[in-house]
Amino acid sequence: MKILIVGSGGREHAITWRLAQDEVKHNLYCAPGNAGTASIATNLAIGAEDVGAVAAWAEANKPDLVVVGPEAPLVKGLVDALEKVGVPAFGPVAAGARMEGSKRFAKEIMDAAGVPTGKAETFTDAAAAKAALPAYGLPVVIKADGLAAGKGVIVAETAEQAEAAIDDMLVGNKFGAAGAEVLIEEFLHGEECSILAMVDGNDAVLLPSSQDHKRVFDGDKGPNTGGMGAYSPAPVITADKLPMIKEKIIMPVVRELAKRGITYRGILYAGLMVNDENSNPHGPLAKSGSTVNVVEFNARFGDPETEAVLPRLGGDFATALLHAATGCLKPEDIIVKDECAATVIIASGGYPGSYEKGKEITGLVDNPALVFHCGTKEADGKVLTSGGRVLSVTGMGKTLREAVNNAYAGVDKIAFEKAFHRTDIAHRAFERG
Ligand code: AMP
Ligand code: GLY
Repeated sequence: MKILIVGSGGREHAITWRLAQDEVKHNLYCAPGNAGTASIATNLAIGAEDVGAVAAWAEANKPDLVVVGPEAPLVKGLVDALEKVGVPAFGPVAAGARMEGSKRFAKEIMDAAGVPTGKAETFTDAAAAKAALPAYGLPVVIKADGLAAGKGVIVAETAEQAEAAIDDMLVGNKFGAAGAEVLIEEFLHGEECSILAMVDGNDAVLLPSSQDHKRVFDGDKGPNTGGMGAYSPAPVITADKLPMIKEKIIMPVVRELAKRGITYRGILYAGLMVNDENSNPHGPLAKSGSTVNVVEFNARFGDPETEAVLPRLGGDFATALLHAATGCLKPEDIIVKDECAATVIIASGGYPGSYEKGKEITGLVDNPALVFHCGTKEADGKVLTSGGRVLSVTGMGKTLREAVNNAYAGVDKIAFEKAFHRTDIAHRAFERG
């Protein structure tokens, strides 16, 4: 198959790499890709968010499939544009991508479909929002409605913090139009994890569970990041929960969207909070009464979850993606290997704040782990850093411990000035003993 992958991060490198593992060889293109995808695909000088240019390339080159990595082009209507030129695309149309692009819309769909989630209300007026706060207790969660580059969620420990977050968004215009509406949401206790569901418009197949590490430092300390590591499977998702997650969370959303004329195809990523005897730490049960609640939906593969989940998939990945994109996905399209995976992010010193770029990276050649590039570029035959998250290093193993050890063996070989990484990936799984 001729396949175009849109995006330039670790997630897109992992998607491209996994397609390159299929027995049948594909002709792979990335728009724009990175220094990692350059060795397994043809990188095109087209920006991921340039909807017009991607659609024009697809119309001229007629790929069998376009796989869209990041949320921004989905929300901007890239899949709608590809439909117009008759090219199958893996990813939802813009109306479906609102599940990620508008937290208010996602809540409306969840409420209509009876999906368990935190109780929430939406406000455009700061005084009305502040008046509603006491009913939520503390902590309380304040969210900008729209996409705010992962910074639009504030977990407020005090009323003052909550009021300041409301003022920042509704009065100070901190996130522009994305923060012109805010949600006040019930704080959910428990352990977070991710379920990526592959959806073909009518049905869904759940990919293996995973857990992200959002805080920058060991022990889940410091500010939130795009994700400092991941592992799969996540033992907090016991096998008995999977049917409930499919039937009470994923499928009701797919059906509710279909009822509104929106055919959802691609990944529906459910960020879940689990609060039961198998989760850590415990806390009061959510108002919904459910032990599994939705924290957020995303309209795409997670990053870095993808770098841990995709290496665990067997079978022909291109066929699975094409089947989902064309409405004929079958459960047997997804084959999960009996292996665990752990991914460690190597970041630039200072991330998620300001950091330097252009540092030479060594230790990539003959690395014992799978090394996916997140923020790199090539210059004069050298690989240089070009982002905050620089590399995703994935180890595989029969056990999670083995996978983690293999990931860190890969990390230890890599160096660049001011590089840092978390040393406790998968700690929640190990704390169970
Ligand atoms: P989101 O962008 O909605 O995923 O929020 C970012 C992070 O904020 C989540 O990954 C959670 O760690 C935290 N968060 C968001 N909503 C809640 C909630 N209702 N209760 C507890 N934590 C939350
Ligand atoms: N790892 C979180 C995300 O992709 O949104």
